[in-house]
Amino acid sequence: MNMDTEYNYKVVRQFAVMTIVWGVVGMAVGVLIAAQLVWPALNFDTPWLTFSRLRPLHTNAVVFAFGGSALFATSYWVVQRTCQVKLISDKLAAFTFWGWQLVIVLAAITLPLGLTTSKEYAELEWPIDILITVVWVTYAIVFLGTIAKRKTKHIYVANWFYAAFIVVVALLHVVNSAAIPVTLTKSYSAYPGAIDAMVQWWYGHNAVGFFLTAGFLGMMYYFVPKQAGRPVYSYRLSIVHFWALIAVYMWAGAHHLHYTALPNWTQSIGMVFSLILLAPSWGGMINGMMTLSGAWHKLRTDPILRFMIVSLSFYGMSTFEGPMMAIKTVNALSHYTDWTIGHVHSGALGWVALVTFGAMYYLIPILFNKKEMHSIPLINFHFWIATIGIILYVVSMWISGIMQGLMWRAVNSDGTLTYSFIESVERMHPFFFIRFLGGVLFLTGMLVMAYNVYKTITVKKAA
Ligand code: HEM
Ligand code: HEM
Repeated sequence: MNMDTEYNYKVVRQFAVMTIVWGVVGMAVGVLIAAQLVWPALNFDTPWLTFSRLRPLHTNAVVFAFGGSALFATSYWVVQRTCQVKLISDKLAAFTFWGWQLVIVLAAITLPLGLTTSKEYAELEWPIDILITVVWVTYAIVFLGTIAKRKTKHIYVANWFYAAFIVVVALLHVVNSAAIPVTLTKSYSAYPGAIDAMVQWWYGHNAVGFFLTAGFLGMMYYFVPKQAGRPVYSYRLSIVHFWALIAVYMWAGAHHLHYTALPNWTQSIGMVFSLILLAPSWGGMINGMMTLSGAWHKLRTDPILRFMIVSLSFYGMSTFEGPMMAIKTVNALSHYTDWTIGHVHSGALGWVALVTFGAMYYLIPILFNKKEMHSIPLINFHFWIATIGIILYVVSMWISGIMQGLMWRAVNSDGTLTYSFIESVERMHPFFFIRFLGGVLFLTGMLVMAYNVYKTITVKKAA
């Protein structure tokens, strides 16, 4: 029987394949910009190859192209399987696929050209923003419409997380992108000064909270129990931490603007809500980890499960580190330094990318009607090389970041600065190299995965 008559797996397959493709592209650009920080000559005196233009290309490619495709693929899979109905419209689902790919291609063209709103993670200019809105609203219609048509009575918790991610991202995008167009490629934000900054970081932090967290928690709540062959540890905890998480995240954004022109009380609110955020975040981590209780032995033999559990550990680590960095006195040291970059990548590589790898290794053979992945040893290899890569990346940035922060604030007894800025840059050089090495290892793992996926898809024997 054709699998696609019962459920729409075509769109899931398409997004799954593009997750791998954009993963390779986005991480390759990451490695290139990491190399440029070690060897600045690598910009070849070419405007569109400069760090400043490639950096937003990297962030957009890994977050929205790689992470976004993974979220589309898994949410369309999970909603159909747990609601036991086909997506409400194949045409609308196909539109979300082609529309999203078009957004990515437009980003890949305009960002190197230097066309940008200059708002971080919202750099794309207004015509692309309108396209994003249309695609995203269609996504919401397909996803929520499918839930409404479900055959099961209950809405499984993974769908709650995906639904929150979809609805909140729509809200964030529309509010933060409000702008007055001047030409086709240039616009000005609708908000003035400090308000613009606050709206931007309300957006920025909730992009972390809902794009990079809630969506991936949806993924975790389906694929971890599936791969472990056990039910979620505590269903009650999953509901409690869902509501706590979405209620608290919204208020924490001001921790990105400590010691700025923002009113002091808003900064304090950002700090306090960030500290509270530790509790629901760890609720999710513990619930995922404990789903393995009674099945820990599976970690010895199952590399896919290993990806998922290590990813949860990094989720726990980065959501402990985040609240600490949100404390004003800690932020006074960490802000503007590589510590932030280390924090970002322990969340992005450790949590987001690893849980995605786990989910994809689970999904790909099923989607392409194969018994299992082409090579299990290669999955194992990917796991180890990625994990070592993350550790090199994160630890080097911690050391470099804290050193930077301490050097900047060091003063002599007469009140003059102990170090010039360039001295701190010189000291960071070896750590930039270690980060580059970590990135090369992580990218190698991604390439091995791409090869393994290609072999799995093209092999003759079916499941
Ligand atoms: C309880 C959870 C978390 C809290 C309270 C938190 C807090 C923070 C703080 C205080 C900063 C530094 C802001 C600055 O000095 O500029 C930061 C930066 C950042 N965090 Fe987190 N974090 C959390 C979890 C995560 C996770 C899980 C991820 C990724 C998956 C993540 C991604 C980021 C990113 C991308 C930035 C950099 C933003 C930028 O300046 O461009 N965070 N976070
Ligand atoms: C091979 C893997 C990767 C490498 C080598 C890499 C490298 C880099 C570098 C060099 C920067 C600029 C740091 C700076 O300005 O000092 C950066 C920024 C960033 N990367 Fe990556 N990256 C990788 C993977 C990822 C992934 C998978 C994600 C997300 C899922 C991600 C998200 C980000 C974000 C959000 C920023 C901006 C951080 C900020 O503004 O604070 N990266 N990356």
